[in-house]
Amino acid sequence: MADEATDVVVCSVRELDASGACGFAIGTGDWPLRGLVLRDATGIVQAYVDRCPHAGHPLALKDHDFLTPDRAFIKCSSHGALFERDTGICVAGPCPGRTLRRLQVRVDGEDVRIAPPV
Ligand code: FES
Repeated sequence: MADEATDVVVCSVRELDASGACGFAIGTGDWPLRGLVLRDATGIVQAYVDRCPHAGHPLALKDHDFLTPDRAFIKCSSHGALFERDTGICVAGPCPGRTLRRLQVRVDGEDVRIAPPV
């Protein structure tokens, strides 16, 4: 569960519904925490670190371009890995069975909030 005292607003629920997934960066300098959030049809929000377990690349080559065209899977644009939305498990591509790293997330009204790992 995200901690209200330390978590950070990364996007709004309205943005998620419009785009399907939103990317974010928390922190500054050369190595901010980069991640993505997405919401399913039942309203459950998931968040993952934006780093592919295959070769460590960011998943999207364009801003917020994390999903397949039908929005059924999270994709990696580098070599085509596909990940389940609700588990982050790779189901196709070069790293089957490996997973995206999950982040703690909560929804507070319209705000989607992430607890940065310590
Ligand atoms: S870095 Fe993601 S599939 Fe290769």
